[in-house]
Amino acid sequence: MSDLAPFLQTLRDRLTITEVIRPHVKLARKGREYTGLCPFHKEKSPSFTVSDEKGFYHCFGCGAHGDIFDFVMQKQNMPFMEAVELLANLLGLEVPKRQLDSSSAPAQPKPDASLYEVMETACRWFQHQLTLAQGASARAYFEQRGLLAETISHFRLGYAPERGLQEALQKQGFSEDLMVQAGLVGRAEERNATYDRFRCRLMFPIWDGKGRVIAFGGRILKEGEPKYLNSPDTPTFIKGKTLYAYHLALPAARQKESFTDALIVVEGYMDVIAMHQGGFKTAVAPLGTALTHEQMALLWRGTEDPILCFDGDTAGARAAHRAAEKALGILKVGQTLRFCFLPSGEDPDSLLRAGHRDELHSLLRKPQPLVDVLWSIFIQGRLFSTPEQKAMARRDLGYLMKEIADPDVRHFYREELNSRLQALLEPKGRDQSRSTQNYDQWRRYPTPLKSAPLMVSRVSPQKNHLGHKILLATLINHPTLIEDTAESLMLLGESSGDYDELRQAILSIAAEAPVISAEELKDLLTQRGFASLLAELLTPQIYSHAPFAKETVSKAEALAGWKEVWHTTIARHHLAAETFRTAAAVRDQFDEQTWERFKFLKNQVVFKRDEKKGV
Ligand code: UTP
Ligand code: MN
Repeated sequence: MSDLAPFLQTLRDRLTITEVIRPHVKLARKGREYTGLCPFHKEKSPSFTVSDEKGFYHCFGCGAHGDIFDFVMQKQNMPFMEAVELLANLLGLEVPKRQLDSSSAPAQPKPDASLYEVMETACRWFQHQLTLAQGASARAYFEQRGLLAETISHFRLGYAPERGLQEALQKQGFSEDLMVQAGLVGRAEERNATYDRFRCRLMFPIWDGKGRVIAFGGRILKEGEPKYLNSPDTPTFIKGKTLYAYHLALPAARQKESFTDALIVVEGYMDVIAMHQGGFKTAVAPLGTALTHEQMALLWRGTEDPILCFDGDTAGARAAHRAAEKALGILKVGQTLRFCFLPSGEDPDSLLRAGHRDELHSLLRKPQPLVDVLWSIFIQGRLFSTPEQKAMARRDLGYLMKEIADPDVRHFYREELNSRLQALLEPKGRDQSRSTQNYDQWRRYPTPLKSAPLMVSRVSPQKNHLGHKILLATLINHPTLIEDTAESLMLLGESSGDYDELRQAILSIAAEAPVISAEELKDLLTQRGFASLLAELLTPQIYSHAPFAKETVSKAEALAGWKEVWHTTIARHHLAAETFRTAAAVRDQFDEQTWERFKFLKNQVVFKRDEKKGV
């Protein structure tokens, strides 16, 4: 690597650091330096400083610090060499090829280089064949599949005729051994005869992360087996470490060229192509196998959690389950998967061709978190009636959670799923029944799509849930509790629906007037226009559900009641998920506010656990 040093210096000399940073941060001049809002943590006043003289940036808020390479690596989430390449590209320079250590390595032709060359040459040849007379049926096929000419050239699609590749490559000076090594040509053992591997197939080049052709998928034109013939693994192509169209999708994700920054994983080559053509430019696919850990690691180099798309049928569900379970061992804080289930029997290609772009779009906008998929895996086909079944459920959930290697992530998954299980095992009745039913509801979406009868809907307390009403009513009648419960109350957030404004008003009044009587509070709320909401809340019906909400009850009793409702209806659903999200945020933007929130949430979880033990 030492030969790279002069090149790195050239980049440092020719690029000012403000030039590199300015597209990402609005910089204002301050003397000899520049300041702006730090891109690595959330802040309201600028503590991010950039100095062209020193060639460094430094954030006094979060401590982020470095030179042009660090900035690109940190901002784009790129490994070093990719950052070097990106910066070299800005200057139109090429990164010098790494030289083998001349003392230890024997002088030999670079095998990889010639592999890339022969693949590139073959790719061009296949592309050319598509334009010839013998490529007519292949052209017709692509057209019938709705591919535009520009898509065909963007994806460098081609056609492999009956024969001819070997000869063409030979003419260009490639050796037979190389063709065999590249997997373009097969060699029959006994007769030592060679033959083209791909014959009468539509050719889909497969690229590495840098856009070099390293393999092909060949689709049969009509019926026949196998439908897709893929290149064998070679020194430059390892199937399980490659994602189709990754070199197109990753930059699209980083440059926000699509509606989402997330990489979207679909099943097949044709799906990827249809997605890109339809404007979903972050789509990638594995190569006919289940996602590997290496492929997941590639996906996490995008800027958001990847979204895995599956057919809503049972095979799709199985594939989703495999991916979910496989991910458990390598989940980290801030590194998870999301899932999207298409209507049964459909893939992205068929949806787009049938004109359902908008539906696909809205499905992709609301992907399901991994925790929901795990939960659905867990409850699928399971009974929870007898004590034995319940005990087995608890034990199996324990086993499942053990698969999560990261202790923090495991902790919060365990919290979340245990509380879901608890809710499921508790006898129905009370105001629990509503949410329990949710577990069995199929997710549906509007016509004209068929519904995907797969995932249970996400469990969350309904808006305007009875629990919210009780919580607010209790506080209005017992304003002295507001201080004790304010933090929890803040967590309710938008989930309190119509009551959200009221909730905020209560918090703001209490902040201004810490000592306030119920009468005064009601007066102030009435003045602020909440008269009708108060009338809805302070009713005999609410009091019959929650006698402790009444004004006449003691403070201690009211507080106990409040906490109980908070934990049973709100905390259980929100806390673990929220804590998990915040844990991720702490990693991404380590600031005081996020950290405090995380600590608070974590305490709540512990508190909740302790209380359960006490019961
Ligand atoms: P599909 O059968 O769903 O293919 O296989 P597709 O891409 O949707 O193609 P069309 O729409 O039928 O033309 C999904 C992926 O599985 C791999 C390929 O990567 C394919 O894109 N596959 C499939 C194989 O590797 N070999 C096969 O024989 C079949
Ligand atoms: Mn298909």
